[in-house]
Amino acid sequence: MEQIHVLDENTINQIAAGEVIERPASVVKELTENAIDAMATAITIEIKEGGISLIRITDNGAGIPKEDIPTAFLRHATSKIKTAEDLLSIGSLGFRGEALSSIAAVSMVELITKTKSAIMGCRYEIAGGTPKNDIEDVGVPDGTTFIVRNLFFNTPARKKFLKSAMTEAGYISDIVERIALSHPEIAIRFINNGRHILNTSGNGNLKDVIYQIFGREITSNLLEVHFSAPDIQIGGFIGKPLISRGNRNFENYFINGRFIKSMIINKSIEEGYKNFMMQHKYPFTALRFQIEPELIDVNVHPSKMELRLRNADEIYPEIVKLIHETLEGKNLIVEVKAEEEKVPAPLKREVTKTPEIFETKRREEKKDPQIQKIQNTKLPENLKNTKSQEIQKEPQKPERPVSSPPVLKEENDYRKPEQMTLFDDSFLSKDARTRTRIVGQVFETYWIVEYGEKMFIIDQHAAHEKVLFERTMKSLKAKENISQELNPPMILNLSLREGELVKKYHMEFARAGYEIEEFGGNDYAVHTVPYDLYKLAREDMLMEMIDTLADDGNIRGGSELIMERIASMSCKAAVKGNNRLSIREANTLIDELLTLDNPYHCPHGRPTIISMSKYELEKKFKRIV
Ligand SMILES: Nc1ncnc2c1ncn2[C@@H]1O[C@H](COP(=O)(O)OP(=O)(O)OP(=O)(O)O)[C@@H](O)[C@H]1O
Ligand SMILES: [Mg+2]
Repeated sequence: MEQIHVLDENTINQIAAGEVIERPASVVKELTENAIDAMATAITIEIKEGGISLIRITDNGAGIPKEDIPTAFLRHATSKIKTAEDLLSIGSLGFRGEALSSIAAVSMVELITKTKSAIMGCRYEIAGGTPKNDIEDVGVPDGTTFIVRNLFFNTPARKKFLKSAMTEAGYISDIVERIALSHPEIAIRFINNGRHILNTSGNGNLKDVIYQIFGREITSNLLEVHFSAPDIQIGGFIGKPLISRGNRNFENYFINGRFIKSMIINKSIEEGYKNFMMQHKYPFTALRFQIEPELIDVNVHPSKMELRLRNADEIYPEIVKLIHETLEGKNLIVEVKAEEEKVPAPLKREVTKTPEIFETKRREEKKDPQIQKIQNTKLPENLKNTKSQEIQKEPQKPERPVSSPPVLKEENDYRKPEQMTLFDDSFLSKDARTRTRIVGQVFETYWIVEYGEKMFIIDQHAAHEKVLFERTMKSLKAKENISQELNPPMILNLSLREGELVKKYHMEFARAGYEIEEFGGNDYAVHTVPYDLYKLAREDMLMEMIDTLADDGNIRGGSELIMERIASMSCKAAVKGNNRLSIREANTLIDELLTLDNPYHCPHGRPTIISMSKYELEKKFKRIV
């Protein structure tokens, strides 16, 4: 064996770079976050060939003082914290002091920077961790430009793992979009191979940024959320269930201006949407969390993409409730349009403007104080009490130095679908029910109801399921549920983990009507089952329930989960589908459906009601054009 020795600085940096800089998108993330920490109000991100050959990031932030430049590229060199205690009140995105050293270790970096107080700016080059020249004086505007060329030129193994330039550009685009969403108060411009891809105005309006990135369909189906407690504020938007997606990529959320990934938050969002959305569909969200820094730990991974929430148990149910309450009582009826609207490809719209390396106009004025309050989590004591109300407010339109055109002048710029205003004369109100007319049933499944200038189509099957589900939930909660004995008992053979779950939730099972007893070895005897489920007292169903508990029980509380499963299974069993109801029976069913908090979706997330307006019909028949 070789003698033990300490590795040289360059090798250490290369090893560290492996964790911090995984691909071009990581460089973009780190440099853009540095620009945000430097209080920039405008950031331009330019890439060539997926960022592999060139990444140029220009900001109009504080700049780096000449004497600090070489230090900035040293590992563990940072201006953002001094001691580990500062991590408890971290307000900046960076704090590890290893991004610049890692980037410089695996690429060729050129830095051009000028602080406000300096007369001249500086130029500095460093490649593979070795400085290329002394610092040169140059005449440049205030702010900083980083140019990163030939990423991984000296680590061919890493370079081999990169995907095609197009794929890498896609990753960068994702990062830029998330940064733009998390900082609507910063004008962000993204240029890929000379094409302008994104251009946010920096007017502080989150909805404008959502429109820029996701287009009209999503923007016109948003619901605003607000939550405020002493330690946590939540704002932003959630999508109506009709704009659901096939994966979680549209669940955007930011904690203290940092976009992160958190299983707990994903789960809580999805839980909030449960019963409003089909299974395996995921919502759109753009949620901004402001959490007391002491309650989070950002120091989990070098990429700073994860964080730990100290009070996850308290935050989880709050998010679920917030989302649920935001969706509840809203008109979520899917409207049938005469023609499917062609939604213009919203993503990556080109903006015809020539690229600028440096922002020509610089911020002269101070940043909007409102935004500073939001960004700077180290609030002075005397502000702490008033913080919750202040953070709730949307930032006022700050004066921006950047001349990019505002994206939307007014809310009305995107066409509001009619369904948003429909419930001014609510179909769901008691009064309205006296003015509805059931026209009849088609295909033995759908009821047609006329109300005002609209025709509503109700799926009898889904409506029935929904009504039964709510009834069963009510009776389970009121503990009216009766159980029925199984003779002989059903024997379940459970794994150790499953057995533990049955024991853990013994009380909850009993309350719901299941009496389960240990039977020796890994066997468990089920003596009674909920009355409604007698005919369905099958092993697989109970096993399915235990599996769900294994996944979600801990964070959601087993009792509610078991009740929901029972209710959902019993209503499924009770409804047979194509059975004819008399008009009177249908009337009762519709009446009951419309009194529910969320009448729009069956327990499995399918819609119960859709609507079509007289206008749409007339358009179809070309009575109007
Ligand atoms: N665009 C910029 N404008 C002004 N100062 C900058 C800029 N980029 C970097 N710096 C300075 O260089 C220092 C080192 O940056 P680096 O990204 O390596 O570390 P960090 O941001 O402090 O922590 P982390 O490694 O977590 O990102 C920063 O602390 C900051 O003082
Ligand atoms: Mg940094």
